[in-house]
Amino acid sequence: MKDKIQEIRQQLKTDLNQVENANSLEEFRVKYTGKKGFITSLFKEMGKIPSEERPIAGKLINDLKEYFIERFEERKKQFGKPLSIEWIDLTLPGRKPPVASKHPLNQVFLEIKQIFAVLGFTVADGPEVETDYYNFEALNIPKLHPSRNMQDTLYITEDIVLRTHTSPVQIRVMQNQKPPVRIIAPGRVYRRDTPDASHSPFFHQVEGLCVDTGISFGDLKAVITTFAHNMFGTDINVRFRPSFFPFTEPSMEYDFNCIFCRGKGCKVCKQTGWIEISGAGMVDPNVFEAVNYDPDVYTGYAFGMGVDRIAMLKYGIDDIRLFFENDMRFLSQF
Ligand code: DAH
Repeated sequence: MKDKIQEIRQQLKTDLNQVENANSLEEFRVKYTGKKGFITSLFKEMGKIPSEERPIAGKLINDLKEYFIERFEERKKQFGKPLSIEWIDLTLPGRKPPVASKHPLNQVFLEIKQIFAVLGFTVADGPEVETDYYNFEALNIPKLHPSRNMQDTLYITEDIVLRTHTSPVQIRVMQNQKPPVRIIAPGRVYRRDTPDASHSPFFHQVEGLCVDTGISFGDLKAVITTFAHNMFGTDINVRFRPSFFPFTEPSMEYDFNCIFCRGKGCKVCKQTGWIEISGAGMVDPNVFEAVNYDPDVYTGYAFGMGVDRIAMLKYGIDDIRLFFENDMRFLSQF
């Protein structure tokens, strides 16, 4: 064993002299400490020698290995990495830096704002933590009135709520300016709902309000129809159904032709050809009185709009929760 180690050490010295670049240094490394290298094999043979000789043989092999490592490191400093590792494939495509994109809901918000901007609407804002007065009372929804049950409210105190709709922004805007008013109010709203594919305890709306002299129900229908045509295409018809909201009189709900079957009837619209969008109507005189507008002089219309719903239709998404889970596999598709 001793002789063999001595022999390998001699061989190592000779080989070392032939190392003249990074590639031959790599060959040198493999020859001695690779899987089947000389030094590696010596360690493997240790098991075969008599146990009393083992400590001496072990020390000699370790010395040899140390000697090898010192020489190897010296040369490595001289030559650097072997070329095969450094070699760069210039034909590979570059690495793309990740590029961010807008959240699908923000894309829809932006599109809605652009459509209404062309129709002369500016954007107004209001708080998400709202008083009972703005969320309900000023909108002609008195305390204890049964219509409060239309919306499951999250209360912070008896008089402070998380707004259940964007309608309170109507009141804030009218308190701060005289007619003419022509605004939309996009934002987040909250309701006490258990999340499922079509419900979320928070979601998004765009409120619309237009007040001036001589504003009619016809204006409201025209604006909503124009919106539908711009958002989904001119073949989409709009249907208006009588309804009730405390802050509008008369009130209606409006539907768009199903954007998947374009009105023919399919699974999404349950064969009706129509999809419900939201409510609208002529501003109730009681609301005008709450903000000191003269209901004998001014008329106006208001409408709501569910943004999550519109985005789900536009992109064919069947679960509202996907918008809020921050899953990159979903978000990076937009
Ligand atoms: N605020 C109502 C809701 O959240 C939607 C709505 C209905 C808004 C009629 C309006 C309106 O401005 O006139 O269900």
